[in-house]
Amino acid sequence: MDRIRIGGGNKLHGTIPISGAKNAALPLMIASLLSEDTLTLRNTPRLADVRLLQRILQNHGVDISTDGKRPGQIGQCGETLRLTARTIADTTAPYELVSKMRASFWVLGPLLARCGEAKVSLPGGCAIGTRPVDLHILAMERLGASIAIEAGYVLAKAPKGLVGNRIVFPKVSVGATHAALMAATLAKGDTIIENAAQEPEIGDVAECLVKMGAKIEGIHSPTLKITGVTSLHGADHTVIADRIETGTYAMAVAMTGGDVMLQGARPDTLDTVLDVLADSEADVRRTNDGLRILRNGAGIAPIRVETQPYPGFPTDLQAQLMALMTKAKGTSLIRETIFENRFMHVQELARLGADIQLQGDRAEIRGVEKLTGAPVMATDLRASVSLVIAALAAEGDTTLHRVYHLDRGFDSLEKKLQNCGADIERLAGQ
Ligand code: UD1
Repeated sequence: MDRIRIGGGNKLHGTIPISGAKNAALPLMIASLLSEDTLTLRNTPRLADVRLLQRILQNHGVDISTDGKRPGQIGQCGETLRLTARTIADTTAPYELVSKMRASFWVLGPLLARCGEAKVSLPGGCAIGTRPVDLHILAMERLGASIAIEAGYVLAKAPKGLVGNRIVFPKVSVGATHAALMAATLAKGDTIIENAAQEPEIGDVAECLVKMGAKIEGIHSPTLKITGVTSLHGADHTVIADRIETGTYAMAVAMTGGDVMLQGARPDTLDTVLDVLADSEADVRRTNDGLRILRNGAGIAPIRVETQPYPGFPTDLQAQLMALMTKAKGTSLIRETIFENRFMHVQELARLGADIQLQGDRAEIRGVEKLTGAPVMATDLRASVSLVIAALAAEGDTTLHRVYHLDRGFDSLEKKLQNCGADIERLAGQ
């Protein structure tokens, strides 16, 4: 298995092109199941999760072609995927594939809407809490599907098609909102989704669905109104910039010091995060082509933050913020309200010398003068990149094991950081 070695201490200077968002690319790819025509997705990041979803969609009969980048090229252009679901060959999403990535469960809605049936394995993904699918099931039932759970599979049926209805989510869920939205585009009549998640990636998917002929009102708001249509057509869509990748590199620069332009970033999708970074005394500048982040001399000020659904502080940046706070001039408090058990990075950060106390869903981080490099283990996607941030500011070398977690969500991470002067390299596995 590959490892990553990081020599700490270098400030970051330069430009990092921001990739397309993983959390938009995955549901956008799934949306291709809704139409017989070709959906062209530009700026798709090169990630293990995208590759895995390609395999899952191919299993359903989606024909996928890829226009790559030139070798060695990194940048916002990403890859262009052309996905054509002329016919759905198979409405089963098997355990072997779905168990590796939670978002693949989201094929349930489109398959049901288009074919009137779907059999999808209960999901897997990062080990960050129990992550049930009851809200997905609620949405499909509200649209008239009958659901059974047998032998680890969700069996959904709507032989006469889905019918529009009012769906009120008791809790905000990104995945269930995607599923309800996609399914409702082909349901008969009107659907209203209340307490919908407002993450920018949902807006991006909704905008793509509109290009495909869907009728959706209230995009970017907590109430979505969808008027069902009989079929959707092809479209050409560019995946929105990844706000989590943007926030991650911004925190890396805030940690090491330096001056980096995050090119192509969408600061308007990161307001809360940028406020927190400014509170930590990083210098945050919104520009026409992205976000410039600087820290010179001033130390890191401690913060108090709790994770919340968008527009609150994202759980997907909680681990990275905690890494930054390990070197703050005082004590920080971080509360995780979205997922239980999303503190697995804490014991690994402690191996680098961090002083963190956990109590339930709260972490108290007492800033230390210095971190020291050590061997550490990646446990999930965002936790693994928090270790990279800490290692960039630690004295000596850190070796990160299980980097396949990073490859699930960060396109060209070592290259992007190397280009800004970081001492980071991938060591190929024996
Ligand atoms: C998505 C993101 C993930 C992010 C998360 C929260 C993608 C591919 N993944 O995951 O990166 O961390 O949003 O911003 O976009 N829940 C239920 N029942 C359900 C579904 C969810 O109780 O049926 C709970 C979850 O356990 C969690 C909360 O709702 O406590 C939010 O989860 P959700 O927004 O659904 O996360 P995902 O869509 O899986």
